[in-house]
Amino acid sequence: MAENLIINQAASRGEKYRDLLPQLKALVSGEPDLIANVANIVAAIRETFGFLWVGVYFVKGDQLVLGPFQGPIACTRIAYGKGVCGRSWSEKKVFVVEDVDRFPGHIACSSSSRSEIVLPVLGKDGNVAMVLDIDSEHLADFSSVDEQFLTQVTELIESMI
Ligand code: SME
Repeated sequence: MAENLIINQAASRGEKYRDLLPQLKALVSGEPDLIANVANIVAAIRETFGFLWVGVYFVKGDQLVLGPFQGPIACTRIAYGKGVCGRSWSEKKVFVVEDVDRFPGHIACSSSSRSEIVLPVLGKDGNVAMVLDIDSEHLADFSSVDEQFLTQVTELIESMI
């Protein structure tokens, strides 16, 4: 397993994702433990981009429960269909939120969060097993570039479930 990420900090966001993805795959290869791998994946994403918060929530019964994350302390439980994360779960789709204050029902775990992207992670049965949530201190920080590359990250996580 690589001990250090090698990322050109002067590169564009898309180039950084292109550098990061093979390193994420190397990071998790040979390690069967899902929690350990997700913990390293969220840490690597935060280290690469400096986002405010990067983490996952697991579907447990009728709630999402906080999993490995990097960033400020966060809400531990989110109900089905609530907030951006709960909507990503109930609608099984990616949400790119340019301004969290304009998203009805947004759950403010941190007052510093201004924009957010949430992606569902599917289990082998095709149901949502987790969501990947990333928050930024900047308005409209996420675009289709993030969605495209982070979908590859969720596919990597899906391959381990
Ligand atoms: N803002 C999220 C809650 C989770 S935190 O951002 C870590 C939401 O509305 O679902």
